[in-house]
Amino acid sequence: MTTSARVAVAGIGNNISALAQGIRYYAKLDAEGVAPGALPGIRRADIGGLAVHDVELVAAYDIDSRKVGSDLHEAVLQAPNNYPRLAVDMPPSGVLVEQGISRDEDLDEATRRVAESLRASDAEVLLYSLPTGLQWAATAYAEAALAAGVSFVNCTPEFVGRDESIHARYVSAGVPLIGDDLASHFGTSVVHRSLLKLFTERGITLGSSYQLNLGGNEDFRNLREQGASKRESKLNALAQEGVALDDVEIIPSAGYVAHLQDHKVAYLNIEGMGWANTPVEVDLKLRVQDSSNAAGVIIDLIRIAAASSRVGEKGFVPAAAPLLKSPHQGHPAYSEHDIAASFATISAVSS
Ligand SMILES: NC(=O)c1ccc[n+]([C@@H]2O[C@H](COP(=O)([O-])OP(=O)(O)OC[C@H]3O[C@@H](n4cnc5c(N)ncnc54)[C@H](O)[C@@H]3O)[C@@H](O)[C@H]2O)c1
Repeated sequence: MTTSARVAVAGIGNNISALAQGIRYYAKLDAEGVAPGALPGIRRADIGGLAVHDVELVAAYDIDSRKVGSDLHEAVLQAPNNYPRLAVDMPPSGVLVEQGISRDEDLDEATRRVAESLRASDAEVLLYSLPTGLQWAATAYAEAALAAGVSFVNCTPEFVGRDESIHARYVSAGVPLIGDDLASHFGTSVVHRSLLKLFTERGITLGSSYQLNLGGNEDFRNLREQGASKRESKLNALAQEGVALDDVEIIPSAGYVAHLQDHKVAYLNIEGMGWANTPVEVDLKLRVQDSSNAAGVIIDLIRIAAASSRVGEKGFVPAAAPLLKSPHQGHPAYSEHDIAASFATISAVSS
């Protein structure tokens, strides 16, 4: 029998609302007999013997008084979260949102408190999903996970997975470390990257390109001020052989538009020169449910993290590389072969 992946979550925002409601949604489909291969919006039905609904949220941390002290299933539906309410029951989960690590307390003491709570919950994975731009918090939660021997998954562009000193300490402690920054399931980065590649493959000389993103959730509000690390991470996500990014501009939040709620609207433009130096231009609009785009990737990353720790993997896990914008050692470091071999290793857990 499969033992569910035991996951703790830090930052009970829209990502976690999409994740928690989605886990209930897929459990319902499973109970109705929908075949694993027919699940909508799922890339891999099984990772290391773990199905999509084999994920249990066992501890939760936030600092917003509207969420701390509430049951997790209540907190995920609490404003300012504005991910849509899915057609699933959300009975009490039995997990209370605990006080997370805040900047105005003693960081060492707060880190010890969270590490102790992680141990008490028997979590295997800590998913870090705070607003972008809080490097001090990313480091503190990564320290708490390391102290508790719990795998860490970083949803944000902050330096954790690609911080060599943190990575080395995870390796010597024998704990998996997965980061940094989600490559959204079907978001602007993958579409932009694919189109840039297509230009190059077809011999079109790349001129200039831009990517403008708009949304009405807290992430977009925050990214107006904290866009620098996200911009860099988004550029990392476009990096590929033969594509020069000198004239590519990315605006992570071109504006907070409240009525868009949790929808992201992105505009892409790419200009180049084709046969006999004549122009080629693409203008594209993409509209997606922003936090579904995160949850569709998180569900794979947390199963990779749990399965990896069960087979004794440590440090970065190559299977996670295509799911991240800024993985440890970057994109070219992990070949298709490395990624397949890594999935084979973590799948040993189920055999
Ligand atoms: N939506 C996507 O596709 C996507 C893709 C890549 C990365 N991300 C990143 O994921 C992260 C989370 O996104 P979101 O939409 O859920 O954000 P959000 O703003 O909705 O939620 C963040 C939560 O963190 C809490 N928080 C703030 N400080 C905290 C602290 N010190 N300790 C514990 N909790 C704290 C907030 O109260 C809030 O509940 C963002 O950094 C975002 O950029 C999202």
